Amino acid sequence: MGMAIGRVRPSIEALAAYRPGKGAAQAEQEHGITNAIKLASNENPYAPVPAVAAAIADAASQANRYGDHRAVELRSALADWIGVESERITVGCGSVGLLQQLCLTYLDPGDEAIYPWLSFEAYPVCVKMMGATPVTTPLVDHRFDMAAVADAVTDRTKLVLLATPNNPTGTAVSTDEIGTLLETIPDDIVVLVDEAYREFADPGLGDPVTDLLPRHRNLIITRTFSKAYGLAGLRIGYAITDPEIVAEIDKVLLAFAVNSAGQAAALAALGALDDIQPKIEHILAERTKVVAALTSAGWKPPPAEANFVYLPTGDRTDEICLALERRGVVTRPFSGDGLRITIGSEAENTRFLDTLAEVAGP
Ligand SMILES: Cc1ncc(COP(=O)(O)O)c(C=O)c1O
Repeated sequence: MGMAIGRVRPSIEALAAYRPGKGAAQAEQEHGITNAIKLASNENPYAPVPAVAAAIADAASQANRYGDHRAVELRSALADWIGVESERITVGCGSVGLLQQLCLTYLDPGDEAIYPWLSFEAYPVCVKMMGATPVTTPLVDHRFDMAAVADAVTDRTKLVLLATPNNPTGTAVSTDEIGTLLETIPDDIVVLVDEAYREFADPGLGDPVTDLLPRHRNLIITRTFSKAYGLAGLRIGYAITDPEIVAEIDKVLLAFAVNSAGQAAALAALGALDDIQPKIEHILAERTKVVAALTSAGWKPPPAEANFVYLPTGDRTDEICLALERRGVVTRPFSGDGLRITIGSEAENTRFLDTLAEVAGP
C-alpha cells in the first residue's frame, strides 16, 4: 500500500464505504448471464406516473438554473398535506441527506449514537464519519428491543436512530413503544424516527407526527419520496420536527443539494396521489403473495411492514444469495443472518419465488 495522500482524518481512514445493492448489469457481467433482475435496493418497480414524468421533463428544460435551495414551495405543500406548520418541515437530499445533516449538527467526537442492529447501513457510516461512537443494541426475533435501547443511554448519548419499518428486517415499532422510550430517556437526546417505508406499514402502528410530536420537541421524523413514490433517483426526503431543529439542521444542508427536478417531481407527486396510491396497493398485494408463498414453503420470514421481505437464511446467506444471482435474481445479503428481497413487479416476484425453490429450502 502506498503512503496516504494528505492527512486523512482517522475517522474517515477507518471507515468502510457505504455499499449500495448490486445492479442487474453488474450481476450479468460477473456471471456471464442476461436478463438479471435487481431486487436489492428496495426500489419501486414502477416508473413515475405521467404527471410526474411531465414535471421532471419540464424541470430538465430549465436545468441551467439552480433550484430553490430552501425548497419553499415543496415545504409548504408538504406542510399542508401532513397538517403541520411549514416551519416544522425541512427537505433534504434524500432522507439519508437529512440523516447526515442530523449527525453533522449533533455529533462531536466521543459522543454516542444508539441504534438497534441490524439496521440501515448508512447509520454506522454517518456516525463514524463524525468521530462519534455507535452504540448498538441486539434485535430479538428480528425486532427492536426498545428496553435495551433505553438501557444503552449514557451521559454521552446525543442521538437515537430508529428505522421503522426497519431495513433490512422489515419489522416495525408502534408509536406507543417509541412514546415509552421518549418518556424514559432525557429530553436533550434527539430521537430520529426514520420512516422511509412508512407508506407500506400497518397504519395501526400509529403516526408519530400526531401521536408524539406535540409532546416531544426532541423527536425528528424523516420520510422520503424514494420508496412509495418511486423517485429514488431524484433524492427528495423530508423531515417533520420542531422548528428549532429545522433551523439548526438547515444550516448544514449542502447548497442546492435538493435538486430542482426532484422538487418539481415531488410537488407533482403530491398532486397525483390518486394515481400513485393504487401502485402502493399493488406492491402490498404482491408482498402478501410473496410472504404467503414463502411461509407455505416452510420459511419463517418476520412480519413484513415495508416493500421487501427478509428471509432468515443464517449461515447459508451468502451461498443462497450467490445461487440466486447466478440465475439472474439479485438480492441483498446480510452475511450470517439473512437475505433481503425487494418486492418487484409481479413477474419479478414470481421469478424470485421459482428460483428460490430451485436453489434452497428452509
Ligand atoms: C431505513 C432507511 N432510511 C433511509 C433510506 C434512504 O432513503 P432516501 O432515498 O430517502 O435517502 C433508506 C434507503 O434504503 C432506508 O432503508
